[in-house]
Amino acid sequence: MCGIVGYIGSKNAYSILIKGLHRLEYRGYDSAGIALINSQNNLNIYKAKGRVSDLEEFSQGKDISGTIGIAHTRWATHGEPSHINAHPHYSQSENLALIHNGIIENYAILKESLKQKGYIFQSETDTEVLVQLIEYIKTINNTDISTAVQLALKQVIGAYSIAVIEKENPDLIIAARKSSPLVVGIGENEFFLASDASPIIEYTNKVIYLDDEEIAVIHRNEPLRIVNLNNVEKTPQITQLELSLNELEKGGYSHFMLKEIFEQPRTLRDCMSGRVNVDSNNVVLSGIIDNKEKFINARRIIILACGTSWHAGLIGEYLFEEFCRIPVEVEYSSEFRYRHPVINPDDVIIAISQSGETADTLAAIELAKQAGAFVYGICNVVGSSIPRNTDSGSYTHVGPEIGVASTKAFTAQVAVLVMMALNIAREKKTISEEQFLSVLSELSKIPSKIETILQQNNYIEDLSKIFTYAHNFIYLGRGYSYPVAIEGALKLKEISYIHAEGYPAAEMKHGPIALIDNEMPVVVIATNSTTYDKTISNIQEIKARNGRILAIVNKSDYKVKEMADYTIEIPDTEECLSPLLSIVPLQLLSYHIAVKKGRDVDMPRNLAKSVTVE
Ligand code: F6R
Repeated sequence: MCGIVGYIGSKNAYSILIKGLHRLEYRGYDSAGIALINSQNNLNIYKAKGRVSDLEEFSQGKDISGTIGIAHTRWATHGEPSHINAHPHYSQSENLALIHNGIIENYAILKESLKQKGYIFQSETDTEVLVQLIEYIKTINNTDISTAVQLALKQVIGAYSIAVIEKENPDLIIAARKSSPLVVGIGENEFFLASDASPIIEYTNKVIYLDDEEIAVIHRNEPLRIVNLNNVEKTPQITQLELSLNELEKGGYSHFMLKEIFEQPRTLRDCMSGRVNVDSNNVVLSGIIDNKEKFINARRIIILACGTSWHAGLIGEYLFEEFCRIPVEVEYSSEFRYRHPVINPDDVIIAISQSGETADTLAAIELAKQAGAFVYGICNVVGSSIPRNTDSGSYTHVGPEIGVASTKAFTAQVAVLVMMALNIAREKKTISEEQFLSVLSELSKIPSKIETILQQNNYIEDLSKIFTYAHNFIYLGRGYSYPVAIEGALKLKEISYIHAEGYPAAEMKHGPIALIDNEMPVVVIATNSTTYDKTISNIQEIKARNGRILAIVNKSDYKVKEMADYTIEIPDTEECLSPLLSIVPLQLLSYHIAVKKGRDVDMPRNLAKSVTVE
């Protein structure tokens, strides 16, 4: 969701900024823009609705010189996607240019007061209000840009990461953040700025993650300064990036999503590495061991997440209740944060997020912390806001997930939840040794079992042709397969734009069964489980109404294979681990249907990879 890139140094800024914008495309956006100061101190802004490639086309033949610049991909919040609303925005004098991620909540009041002072606005954005405010404060206080930014941000309510450049000051970028990520890269006599590390990694692996209400004063040829809104100097904490450039490229696959689906055997091995040890029959997560008492004595676990991460959380509920005997509630962060939830100091909160930047989850965490609860994060992006705002946690270690539809992050989130449940259950003595060892041994086999599922890619691609023209889908599952059903449905709707709903299979007869006819594909996850026979009854109910059934079944299955119109086989495993396998064919099915429909699989319309506004 919105992307920021900045550069100051001795190289041509334009090409670095455009490349950086391409790297951030995965976040989701609808327009793009760039501001450059050339050697004659002209501040040029170019913007275009659409893709970064449209911006490149628009900039052709124009003056794109300059060794300082800022660039932006916008995901519309205030005002439609358009050339005018795209960032950067000029201040009234055209002396300043600003880019912004986030939402200025009190922009309307600020705008009204600036209008009364004679400021004229070109766009409908909250961002233009901020740049005008900075200019106004700078003028009336006769102060420098850094102080003006500090004073302006003190008046702002909301979330922001910003970068500002000033025509009269071509050696300086001012950047600041609150509840929206911003990273400064430190090169040899040059600095980079970005919403995440992906545009920076090919130039330097030394970065500084800004904290809330910190301002980076980035001066050409001077050491970086970090100050807070009261101008108190802070010591920059340099972090070494462990990202590699290969991880940001498609590596021969036609889409990032396909690459990421195929990466899952490796990402799950990475995720379990050093944590699962079959030889010593152990699973150890340092975050759990360090906080053993909190988990053992937890009155309740509350899992907070959004979207796919919320679906992983539902699997967590089944795991913690089955193995640890701790009551669990799984909450949408967006609902939790606004409904006066009862939070006890002996509740353990688990926040799950791939990006680690989801605004609703961050706010929900804050609420839980204020109530004195212990907060544990399960995140993928190292150094992101959620790991920095939680008491402890576990990374999923799957590397950058670029495809907007989450795949490898989901399986790793589930794997972390399995490891947590096993680790806590053993400490709490709520799991038998036999069951512990059986799940542990099966868990270690999951990556190679996924490899056998991936071998069916061509078969699943062929199957997808049958379903490409469907307008609706239903996904059904029970127990551990219910979250898989809703995750499978989400994958399909996100990238193919086909309407799909997931239900617990037994809920069918309470309403959705009215939708079944011979045009309704029903995907049933009918793998071995304690409710297998019940699922068979649900399949019969659908058959009786001429629904077309695609079933995900185990290799050893013979009953469902006879009833379903189409089947995809997955290897047998422990019931609690079945989501790690059954989701894979559903990811592939959605992918192939979306490709056949000609959809932009990696950047589906209206979606953002990291939802940094509420
Ligand atoms: C679905 C998807 C979204 C995210 C959701 C939460 O494929 O990607 O539903 O899961 O926006 O994002 P994170 O996990 O970054 O908090």
